[in-house]
Amino acid sequence: MANYNLFILFLSLTFFITTTTSSRLLTPSPSSQIQRLPYTPGPIHTNGQNFTKVCDPARFTIIGLRMEDFAYCNGSLPYSVRVKDLIGRMTISEKFKNLNDLAPGAPRIGLPHYNWWSEALHGVASSQNGTFFGDIVKGATVFPTPILTAASFNAPLWNTIGKVVSTEARAMYNLGHAGLTFWSPNINVARDPRWGRTLETPGEDPYVTGLYAVNYVRGLQDVEGSVTVQDPNTRSLKVAACCKHYTAYDLDSWMKGMIVRQEYDARVTEQDMVETFNRPFETCVREGDSSSIMCSFNKVNGVPVCADARLMSQTFRKEWNLHGYIVADCDSVEVIAERQRWLHDSPEAAIAETLKAGLDLDCGWGPFHFYQDYGESAIRQGRIRETDVDNALTNLYTVLMRLGFFDGNEKFQNLGLPDICSKKHTDLSAEAARQGTVLLKNINNKILPFDSNKFKNIALIGPHANATEAMRGNYAGDPCNYITPLEAFQAEVQVDVQKGCSTVACTDVDLNPVIDAVKNADASVLFFGLDLSEEREEFDKNGLQLPAGQVEIIKKAAEASKGPVVLVIMSGTCVDLSFAEKNPKIGAILWVGYPGEQGGRAIADVVFGRYNPAGRLPLTWYNSDYVDQLPMTSMQLRPNDQLGYPGRTYKFYNGPLQYPFGHGLSYTTFNYTLKSSTTSISTTLSPLQSCKQLTLKPKVTPPPCPAINIDESLCTDNINFTVIVTNTGKLDGDHVLLVYSKPPLMVDDAPIKQLVGFQRVFVKAGQSLEVKFSLNACKALGLVEKTAYKVLPSGEHTIVVGDGHSAASFPVTVNFKH
Ligand SMILES: *[C@@H]1O[C@H](CO)[C@@H](O)[C@H](O)[C@H]1NC(C)=O
Ligand SMILES: *[C@@H]1O[C@H](CO)[C@@H](O)[C@H](O)[C@H]1NC(C)=O
Ligand SMILES: *[C@@H]1O[C@H](CO)[C@@H](O)[C@H](O)[C@H]1NC(C)=O
Ligand SMILES: *[C@@H]1O[C@H](CO)[C@@H](O)[C@H](O)[C@H]1NC(C)=O
Ligand SMILES: *[C@@H]1O[C@H](CO)[C@@H](O)[C@H](O)[C@H]1NC(C)=O
Ligand SMILES: *[C@@H]1O[C@H](CO)[C@@H](O)[C@H](O)[C@H]1NC(C)=O
Repeated sequence: MANYNLFILFLSLTFFITTTTSSRLLTPSPSSQIQRLPYTPGPIHTNGQNFTKVCDPARFTIIGLRMEDFAYCNGSLPYSVRVKDLIGRMTISEKFKNLNDLAPGAPRIGLPHYNWWSEALHGVASSQNGTFFGDIVKGATVFPTPILTAASFNAPLWNTIGKVVSTEARAMYNLGHAGLTFWSPNINVARDPRWGRTLETPGEDPYVTGLYAVNYVRGLQDVEGSVTVQDPNTRSLKVAACCKHYTAYDLDSWMKGMIVRQEYDARVTEQDMVETFNRPFETCVREGDSSSIMCSFNKVNGVPVCADARLMSQTFRKEWNLHGYIVADCDSVEVIAERQRWLHDSPEAAIAETLKAGLDLDCGWGPFHFYQDYGESAIRQGRIRETDVDNALTNLYTVLMRLGFFDGNEKFQNLGLPDICSKKHTDLSAEAARQGTVLLKNINNKILPFDSNKFKNIALIGPHANATEAMRGNYAGDPCNYITPLEAFQAEVQVDVQKGCSTVACTDVDLNPVIDAVKNADASVLFFGLDLSEEREEFDKNGLQLPAGQVEIIKKAAEASKGPVVLVIMSGTCVDLSFAEKNPKIGAILWVGYPGEQGGRAIADVVFGRYNPAGRLPLTWYNSDYVDQLPMTSMQLRPNDQLGYPGRTYKFYNGPLQYPFGHGLSYTTFNYTLKSSTTSISTTLSPLQSCKQLTLKPKVTPPPCPAINIDESLCTDNINFTVIVTNTGKLDGDHVLLVYSKPPLMVDDAPIKQLVGFQRVFVKAGQSLEVKFSLNACKALGLVEKTAYKVLPSGEHTIVVGDGHSAASFPVTVNFKH
C-alpha cells in the first residue's frame, strides 16, 4: 500500500513531465494541407463505373490503357512475378503514397485506390469509411462482444462466427460498403481488471486468447478447398484478418489520462513476454496463419514497438513466419516522432526506423500520414533504401492478390444483401450470447430458471432493462435489429418496466416507482452494470465498484421484492458484486457481457430455462480492493513481494476474490470420472541435447536433468485421457470441461496452474458422455523459465479436470534419459 502511494506520487511527477514535453503534439503537421481524394470503399470505382476486379480489360479501356501491356494482370504468372511487375512500374512518389491506409493507387498504370481500414471485431463494424452502413446495407449481424463469446469456451463456435462475419463482409464488399482487409481480432491479454478495452478481448488467459485468435482468424480468412497450399503466400483468402495490438498493450488512459497508451513505456520481462504478452500473437501467426499483425502505440522497455526490429520483423516475420503485412496502430509513426520524441526523431528518422523494423503500412488518419508525406525526403536524406519500400509494398500487394482484389474470386462474387442479416446469422448471434452467459449465483440451484406459468407478472428494473446500444459494445456495426430485454420478456409475460435511473452512471435515482413495481410483481429481474460511458478505448476504470446509485437501487429493490430476484449484469470487466452475492434476497446473478443485438432474447431464454447456461468467466473477478494493491502500470504477472503486489490472473494470484476464472454454474449438476490416462512420459534425449536449469524451491536438490528446452526437442509425446461426464441433475445441458496442468512441487516461481485444454459438450439429464483429450506434453506441461527458455520440467506434474470439489486429477511423471 505504502509503495503504491509512492507510485502515485511518481505518477504525478511523470504527468507533469509528459504534459510539458508533449504539448506540441497538437501542432498540425504540414500534411494537413494536403488534398485528400474522395474515397469510396469497396469494389473498384473507375471513371464513374464500378468493377469487381482490377484486372478487367474493360476497366483498362476506359482509362485508355491496354491490360495486355501490364504483366501484373497476367493471371498465368505467379503472384510474386505480378507483384514485382506492379511495383517495378511505380515511381518513388507513388510507392510512398500507397504505404498509407488510404492508398490512392496509381491511375497512370491502372492501379485503383484502396482503403485498407475495415473492422470486424464481432460482426462487420463501421470504420473510417472503409466499412459503412447506409442506403443499401442498413446493418450487419452484431455478435456479442468477444469477452462474452470467449466465455462460451467453445472453439468451433468462434470459428463459425468468423465464417459468418466474413460472408457478410464479402457481401458488403460486393455492394461497395466494405474493404477486404479487416483489422480484427483484438488479442491482447487482459492483464488488469481496469483495462477499458477488455470487452474487445477474449480475456486474461493467453492460451484461450490464442485459440480464440486461431479460430476467429481462420473463420475470417480460410477459403474452403484452398486451406493447404505449397506456398502460403499464394493461399487464397476470404478476407484478411489482423491480430492486434502487438505487444504488451493493455493500458489506454488511466488515472484521468495521466498515463496514456501513446506515451506508455511497458516494462516487461522476457519471461512475461514469452509466457503471456506475445503468446497469443505467436499462436495467431503460427497456427492461424493470419495475414496481418498490427503493432501498438506503446513502447516496450524503452523502444516503440513499431520501431523495434527485434520485436517486429525478427520475431514474427523470421521466427513465426508471417505471410502477410504489418500495419501500425493509427498513428503510431506520428506518435513516435512527435509525442514520444524517441531519439528526438524527425519524421524522416521515424519513417526510417519503422520501415526498417518491418512496418509495411502506416495507418495515418486525420491529418497524419507520415509515410506519404515524408517518405521521399527520407530517401533524399539517405535514411532508407528503396528496397525497404519495395519489400513493404510486396507484402501489401501479395495479400491483395490473395484476396482476389486483382482477379476477383468466383466463390464469393454472388454474395449480396440476402447474405447479410439472414435469420441464420441473427440466430447464431443469439446462440453465442446464450452460450457465453455465465450463471454466477443461484441459491440452492433453484431460484432460476423461472417458470413463466408461475410468474405471469415480472418487474424489469434498471437502466439496462430496455438496452439497445449498450448490448452492442464498441467496434460494432449497425445491427440488423435489436431484441431488448424488455421486448423479449414482454413476448411471454406481463411486465412492469422501471429503469430507476436513466443512465448507468445512475445519478438521478428515482426509487418509488421501482419499489411499487417489485412489490406487485411475481418476480423481479434487475438489469444493471456498465456500458461504454464507464469502460472503453482510451478510458480505463479507476475501480471495480458499480456506480453508487445502482447499488442503492439493487439493494432497495431486492429488499422490497415480493417474489424472487435475479440480477443481470452487463459489463466487459469484473465489477464488485460482493454485496449482491451475500444478499439472500438476490437469488441469482447472471453475467451477460455485452451480449450483442439479440441479447434480450438470449437473457430471456436463460431466465425461463429454455437454455441451460454453461458459460465460464474468462476473467478472474477480484475483490474491489485488489486494484488498491497494485498500479495498472505494473506489467509483471508474478507477485512482487518487495512491492507488495499480489500477482495477476488465476495463474499467479491466489488471494481472496469474488469469482475465480472459469467460474460458472448450471441448472443441472455434473460429475467426472477419469477413464484412462497416460501416467508417465519418458523422453530419450539426442546425444548432444543439453539439460536446462529450473528455478527450484529452496533446499530442493536438483534432479540430474531438471528440464529440457522445448524448442530443441521433438515433443512428440501426448497425454491421452478420457473424461466420463455424467449429468447427475434433472435438466439437459452443456458443460465446459476445463483441463489445467500443475507443475511438479519442487518448481518455484511457476504458475499455480495453467489451462491447457477445454471442450464444451452437451449431456442429457441422467446420461454420461466420454470426452477424449490428447494433449501435447510439451505444450501442456511446459513452463517459461526466468531465462525465457520454454522448458519441459522433469518430475511429477498433475493434470486437473475442472475446479473445486468436482475436480478430478491424475499425475503424469516426466523423465529424460540419454
Ligand atoms: C458505382 O458505385 C457508386 C458507389 O457505390 C454508386 O454511387 C454508383 O451509382 C455506381 N455506378 C454505377 C455505374 O453503377
Ligand atoms: C501471360 O504470361 C504467360 C507466361 O509467361 C505468357 O505466355 C502469356 O503470353 C502472357 N499473356 C499476355 C496476355 O501477355
Ligand atoms: C467519411 O465519410 C464522411 C461522410 O461521407 C465524410 O464526411 C468524411 O470526410 C469521410 N472520411 C474519410 C476519412 O474519408
Ligand atoms: C424500448 O426500446 C425500444 C427500442 O429502442 C423503444 O422503441 C421503446 O420505446 C422502449 N420502451 C421503453 C418502455 O422504454
Ligand atoms: C457420478 O454420478 C453417478 C450418477 O449419480 C454415480 O453413479 C457416480 O458414482 C458418480 N461418480 C462420481 C465420480 O462421483
Ligand atoms: C494419443 O492420441 C493421439 C491422437 O488421438 C494419437 O495419435 C496417439 O497415438 C495417442 N497416443 C497414445 C500413447 O495412445
